[in-house]
Amino acid sequence: MKSEILRMLKECSGHLSGQELSEHFNVSRTAVWKAIEQLKKEGHEIEGVKNKGYHLIQKGDILSKAELESQLAMGEKAISVHFFNEVDSTNTIGKKLAEEDKEKEMTLIVADSQIQGKGRRGRSWDSPKKSNIYMSLLLYPSFSPDLAPMLTHVMAISVAEGIEAVTSLSTKIKWPNDIIVEKKKVCGILTEMSAQVDYINYVVVGVGINVNQKDFPEEIKEKATSLALSGGEEVKRSLLIARILEGFEKNYRIFLETKDLSKLRNVYEKHLINIGEKVRIVEGDHGYVATGLGISDQGELKIRKEDGTFANIYAGEVSV
Ligand code: BTN
Repeated sequence: MKSEILRMLKECSGHLSGQELSEHFNVSRTAVWKAIEQLKKEGHEIEGVKNKGYHLIQKGDILSKAELESQLAMGEKAISVHFFNEVDSTNTIGKKLAEEDKEKEMTLIVADSQIQGKGRRGRSWDSPKKSNIYMSLLLYPSFSPDLAPMLTHVMAISVAEGIEAVTSLSTKIKWPNDIIVEKKKVCGILTEMSAQVDYINYVVVGVGINVNQKDFPEEIKEKATSLALSGGEEVKRSLLIARILEGFEKNYRIFLETKDLSKLRNVYEKHLINIGEKVRIVEGDHGYVATGLGISDQGELKIRKEDGTFANIYAGEVSV
């Protein structure tokens, strides 16, 4: 009811009376009042005017469960939403929910801050509060485990498109899944899986986006930026999360039709920063330079080496 009240308040330019709301939800006026008080506690500024009703003073970039649910319009597909002010890592929460068997459908975990945000290859992910997006999507795919890495590509496309939908920025993808704006990283994706040899128990796709962060630690300043720093405007995080999830739902459906990236390759390559560019391929402690050509239907990076031979890279890291 809370998220529905929030949605109704957003759509109403004037006031919504307690009477109207209690009739709409078929609950007492006290129940309505309690829901309004909870929304206020979560940070939504709502004024109550005697004889007129409630009015939402639209302000700021608030993240709450009700705010997220009021932005999400996921069609037929139900998605359960978990929101936390602070967690160790949203990926860890996703794994816990799956292991405790709490969820059996697509589940979204969002936090305002993380104390142990995880990056790829054992790195940490800086996760200050009230500025960025830290979210994980818990999925139970019924395909073979070797296809799971492609979920990262599907998410990368969805993030790139989502950012372009809510800002005026143009986005690039650095293979396999960094999102780049104005040559700097704004988003990283960490996909983790629990599987048997031939069966996926669950997959957690974690997404960290630098949204409204204004300062970066010295050691990453050269390489990282945020949407607000690049676009000059604050971005409403709940809106961006909703656009990304809508995009993911669409792109995931397309992926499931063929269980490869054949129908998404064009859009991925449209954003791919490495096409026609020199890339440095890092494999363990050895590296070499090649030219990026595109991706295969399985998401590998197609390259031409300096000796003229071709190869597909399926793991490893590239630097531009
Ligand atoms: C990278 O190294 O590029 C991947 C970073 C992924 C960070 C996100 S933030 C939400 C989710 N929870 C985590 O602990 N990590 C991912």
